[in-house]
Amino acid sequence: MKKVGIIGTGEYLPKKVLTNAALEKMVDTSDEWITTRTGIKERRMRAKNEATSDLACKAAKQALEDARLKPQDIDLIIVATITPDMPFPSVACLLQNALGATRAVCFDISAACAGFVYAISIARQFISRGAYKFALVVGAETLSTVTDWQDRNTCVLFGDGAGAVVLGEVKSGGILSAYLGSDGSKKDLLYIPAGGSRMPSTHQTVDERLHYIKMQGNELFKLAVTLMAEAAQVAIKEAGLECKDVDLVIPHQANIRIILAMAKKLKLPREKIYLNIEKYGNMSSASTATALCEAVKEGRVKKGDIVLLDAFGAGLVWGACIIKW
Ligand code: ACO
Repeated sequence: MKKVGIIGTGEYLPKKVLTNAALEKMVDTSDEWITTRTGIKERRMRAKNEATSDLACKAAKQALEDARLKPQDIDLIIVATITPDMPFPSVACLLQNALGATRAVCFDISAACAGFVYAISIARQFISRGAYKFALVVGAETLSTVTDWQDRNTCVLFGDGAGAVVLGEVKSGGILSAYLGSDGSKKDLLYIPAGGSRMPSTHQTVDERLHYIKMQGNELFKLAVTLMAEAAQVAIKEAGLECKDVDLVIPHQANIRIILAMAKKLKLPREKIYLNIEKYGNMSSASTATALCEAVKEGRVKKGDIVLLDAFGAGLVWGACIIKW
């Protein structure tokens, strides 16, 4: 089995910033409530002509440049998204075309906020077994398109963005472990009711605002803390390590209180936790992807460091992986 690591990173955040102050004018909320309850100060919004594949393409180009590869070098493209440009074709196929990555096999995966960790785990299998040499893995979302801007319970939380990595064989280190979990019995805690085969789009579904995210935040909060901590513990153990060996945790950025409660369970100090929630809110699969990219750019990840990616989302789904940089 080949050792597989991350050999390039990239990100793209749309220019438009939506601050908590701006949200105060849209719904009955306050900067104080949003900041103390979630840790979010602002988030990014796509431009009207920007679809998920456009965000993905900009992040992917940066990752390819960072890996010093050409689009034609890529064998596999996996895009993790719950906000595709359209039901089909996949964002991965649209991205392949935009990049000119003509040799790549392309597909999307739907694993909500854990999508990036899921996609890394899938790509790793292909490369470690020698089926493919280079994979492009992207977490890209335009959650603003499925957010109910009249619902203060959810609209303060989400944002748009994309992060990308290139995976390839490495001489040492790389992905040491990847652990994934799912529980479909909790499907009603976070979902979009309409627009699929269960409830196809009609005038009524639009009038009833059923194409937007519905969430039971409180229940999810408790499950997120428990399951992210458990996922981290399993991934750390499978890598033959202990919690104290982790140099940097890159968690899904749903709520700063979830992240800090999870870190407390793992007895990890705050200095070891990477946060970008303040700037971007929850971008589902793009949160862990952009956080990883920014941590690398800022020099927070050094050669030999042990990095823990840890995510949780709708499904329910969760996952963690340990990477030796
Ligand atoms: N502004 C002001 N007040 C608000 C707002 C708001 N934006 N939103 C809710 N409130 C009110 C509520 O109405 C409630 O008022 P009440 O007590 O009079 O009924 C009060 O604030 C407390 O509400 P809670 O829901 O108990 O607040 P909580 O502390 O749980 O925070 C939050 C809510 C931020 C949603 C939190 O529960 C959370 O982060 N949950 C997890 C989200 C998550 O992890 N999602 C999964 C990943 S996302 C993905 O997969 C796409």
